[in-house]
Amino acid sequence: MDSIVSIRGLKKYFPVKSEALFGKTTWNKAIDGIDLEIQRGEALGVVGESGSGKTTLGKLILGLHAPTEGTIDYRGHDTGRMQSSVVFQDPFSSLNPRQTVFDIVKEPLESVRGTRRGQGFRQTILDILNLVGLSEEQMFRYPHEFSGGQRQRIAIARAIVAKPLFIVFDEPTSGLDVSVQAQILNLLKELKGNSDLSYVFISHNIGVVKYICSRIAVMYRGKIVETSGNQELFDNPLHPYSQHLLSAVPVIDETRMSKIIEFEAKAADEAAVSNGCIYYSKCPIRRDICREKPPQRFDATEGHSVYCWARELDQR
Ligand SMILES: Nc1ncnc2c1ncn2[C@@H]1O[C@H](COP(=O)(O)OP(=O)(O)O)[C@@H](O)[C@H]1O
Ligand SMILES: [Mg+2]
Repeated sequence: MDSIVSIRGLKKYFPVKSEALFGKTTWNKAIDGIDLEIQRGEALGVVGESGSGKTTLGKLILGLHAPTEGTIDYRGHDTGRMQSSVVFQDPFSSLNPRQTVFDIVKEPLESVRGTRRGQGFRQTILDILNLVGLSEEQMFRYPHEFSGGQRQRIAIARAIVAKPLFIVFDEPTSGLDVSVQAQILNLLKELKGNSDLSYVFISHNIGVVKYICSRIAVMYRGKIVETSGNQELFDNPLHPYSQHLLSAVPVIDETRMSKIIEFEAKAADEAAVSNGCIYYSKCPIRRDICREKPPQRFDATEGHSVYCWARELDQR
């Protein structure tokens, strides 16, 4: 496989001033030791609950945050910023309200050396707007004149116009109505096609990720707990947290329910486990070792890795 971004031992800790500790600084471990490859041409999904560190990971990959520790290697390219672009959840905050669609989409072209000026821009921008489903007469309007879905189309046009190597989509459809969401997801799927372009697609919604992505990384509290091909993850989730995410549809299973309630009750006093697995306090299949040592990566099958002692010990 041809990887375009290679991430090793990545950490991002944010300082937190604690009143309770008399102003002493503690650390919010937003990203706490991630290894990850982004392959050329893949649509990689990053899924996990709110606060698990998805946006922080996206910003680190884009070069918008400096890592606390670890490295991001762009495989022969200078920086992430030159080769990448981003679409955030809220296009209103990322689109300059004083710029027309034309200027918004033109900006990335101007920062790429060697692009022809003048007429060349106009045709390129028009082509891109058509590609994302916007028309020529909309070219000189301002962001506030568009609906949420249309503004996201403008943001997408801006993201693809300079032909980046990869695009980070951070919850691009989260604020939209379900039907508009579906239109945007279909557009993204179409644009990707079989191209060499790589997507990093961040979402808390596993259904969205399943629809768009070829490979999925599951995040929990600053760590990746499982990576797998799309279909394989749904057929055979290995990490108990992945299983929990996939079981969002409530299944009435009395034994399992009472187990979950029992574990939730214990969770509070066991949250203090600092050496072992981050999922220890909630895990229905935990072992003693899970309290003591953080799980290492275990390759269950080709292309399917999990960070879980219980799974590893089961298969040894
Ligand atoms: N710029 C920042 N400064 C301080 N803390 C931050 C910053 N960005 C994110 N965090 C914290 O890092 C953790 C992960 O946040 P985030 O990456 O936004 O998660 P997600 O996108 O999965 O919801 C959260 O606890 C959040 O409060
Ligand atoms: Mg986020």
